[in-house]
Amino acid sequence: MTANTENTLFTPFTLGNFTLKNRIGVAPMTRMSAGENGIPRQDVFDFLTRRAQNGAAIVYTEAIVTDYESAQGYPGQARITTQPQIDAWATVIKGIHKENSLAILQMFHCGRMAWPEVNPAHRAIAPSAITPVQDNPLTQSPYPTPEAMSLFDINHVIAGFVETAKGAITAGFDGVEIHGAHGYLISQFLSAYSNRRPDDYGGSVPNRFRFAREVIRSVRKVVPEDRLLIFRISDWGIADMEVSLFESRENYQETIRLLAGEDIDAISVSTYEFGQDAYGSGKNMAQLTQEVTSLPLMICGGIFDRTTADQALEHADIVLAGKSLLLNPHWVEDVKENKTLPRYSSEEAGIAYTPEPLA
Ligand SMILES: Cc1cc2nc3c(=O)[nH]c(=O)nc-3n(C[C@H](O)[C@H](O)[C@H](O)COP(=O)(O)O)c2cc1C
Repeated sequence: MTANTENTLFTPFTLGNFTLKNRIGVAPMTRMSAGENGIPRQDVFDFLTRRAQNGAAIVYTEAIVTDYESAQGYPGQARITTQPQIDAWATVIKGIHKENSLAILQMFHCGRMAWPEVNPAHRAIAPSAITPVQDNPLTQSPYPTPEAMSLFDINHVIAGFVETAKGAITAGFDGVEIHGAHGYLISQFLSAYSNRRPDDYGGSVPNRFRFAREVIRSVRKVVPEDRLLIFRISDWGIADMEVSLFESRENYQETIRLLAGEDIDAISVSTYEFGQDAYGSGKNMAQLTQEVTSLPLMICGGIFDRTTADQALEHADIVLAGKSLLLNPHWVEDVKENKTLPRYSSEEAGIAYTPEPLA
């Protein structure tokens, strides 16, 4: 840790048109609390506002589902394409803005990580008709074999991202994030592990990037230049966790180069553990990302106290915390005071999916 990074965490950062009050954000966290109306429970909304009140400069929403046919992968996921849904989120955004924090909405399509019973159209679609090896941990049964997406499906899914981005912008979000991580649909296209398409959307890295590029370009058209467009990426997926989705440093960095060539405002890299060596390179994912782009970089994974936050910022501009900000309402203040803090487990974070209101 250098003197420089010690001073960085609580300094402002310019992100697009915005100035962040510090370098700390609440990572996107699905809560599965929405009812038939696609609107999260009030205590889930209150939680987000409170995290802004308690110091986070960025507050991400949970992953918001992008279409009615095939996007939803978990029960109780929220949507933002109807006026009541837009109005509900607008109130939360006002609360976040009052604290001079940014509100960012994450857009999600599950792809082959599907649970068709919770989906209005009961469909499972993916780049190729290949299932994850691992069972769905929530249903304890195998994931359904997805249909390989047709060109019609591809365009329909892109339209869903666009409609959702429009809803987000109408509600007043400062930006949207395209979920290209964790082995969900866009990540499935990026990775040769799940993409075996013989057409222009499969094969080479630029071909596998094509779907992400089309989503980005279509969404950018409805996200004004003074709002943010962010892309989240990871080398790991929720199913078949041990698989390295990009396989090699070259593969990953070529993807990042392509991504950085698009009109986006930041890249968010999600890891299990931010400091971990990536691809035997002796460098971590953030370092490998910064080697090929100077775009603003968010890093997430295993940041739980002042030391880890400072270390993570050595190779990134913003740190996102998931479990720590989920379970400790005073985390930002505790980090500022350099308190000794626990590293929470995934089991402890499971409370996020229960009706129990979080502090
Ligand atoms: C309850 C819970 C829900 C999550 N939901 C999402 C999500 O909707 N979208 C996403 O990109 N990541 C999601 N994540 C992953 C987090 O954003 C983050 O990457 C992960 O928790 C690692 O960060 P941490 O070590 O600080 O917890 C979720 C994590 C938790 C604990």
